[in-house]
Amino acid sequence: MLSHHVVTLLGERVLLRPLKRSDAALYPDFLSDVTQGDLRLRFFSAMRELSPEMIDKLVHYDVSTTMAFIAIEEDTGRMLGVVRLHGDDKGESGEFAILVRTHLKGHGLGWLLMKHMIANAKAKGLKFVRGQVLAENTTMLAMCSELGFHAANDPLERGVKEVTLPLDEVPAEATA
Ligand SMILES: CC(C)(COP(=O)(O)OP(=O)(O)OC[C@H]1O[C@@H](n2cnc3c(N)ncnc32)[C@H](O)[C@@H]1OP(=O)(O)O)[C@@H](O)C(=O)NCCC(=O)NCCS
Repeated sequence: MLSHHVVTLLGERVLLRPLKRSDAALYPDFLSDVTQGDLRLRFFSAMRELSPEMIDKLVHYDVSTTMAFIAIEEDTGRMLGVVRLHGDDKGESGEFAILVRTHLKGHGLGWLLMKHMIANAKAKGLKFVRGQVLAENTTMLAMCSELGFHAANDPLERGVKEVTLPLDEVPAEATA
């Protein structure tokens, strides 16, 4: 289940697999197709680009607490998106973050990445998947709602919603 072949709504054939350190080489091309606006929605702060140090940090994650999956276009080998889930110390819940190529938005890839991450979180025995989403990020909030997440205002950060998915509410077929 860690790796999975999928097809987007527009027919791109995509491999979802765990992110590797060597994938750092794929990031510059990927990020060349991510707008500053989308970087802000992902990282919550204005940034022109990700530094090589930040990319290095993103690919060097602790596999005992964190899972990260990359979407690779099978025909070209290009990186199309990435989702990660950073687990808490107790191993009960994880916080996700997701980013898809700007020109690929709306092809259904974000949905496929989220389903893949959720299925793996459930298989690992986590109880909850959580995320912080800017209130203006209506696409992400709508997608989370369709995926079964509950949304509430973040008590600590204005303009931020906290979305939570209790994994025992995820139907069995969603993890197949
Ligand atoms: C948010 C983001 C990940 C969404 O990815 P995406 O690939 O554009 O989204 P999708 O195409 O999968 O989903 C878009 C729509 O299709 C729906 N959808 C897609 N596949 C579906 C499926 N198989 N079944 C049902 N619904 C589906 C989604 O619910 C959503 O519905 P809407 O159009 O009615 O709003 C992407 O826009 C992105 O990277 N944004 C910048 C970073 C960001 O916002 N990250 C989130 C905070 S961590």
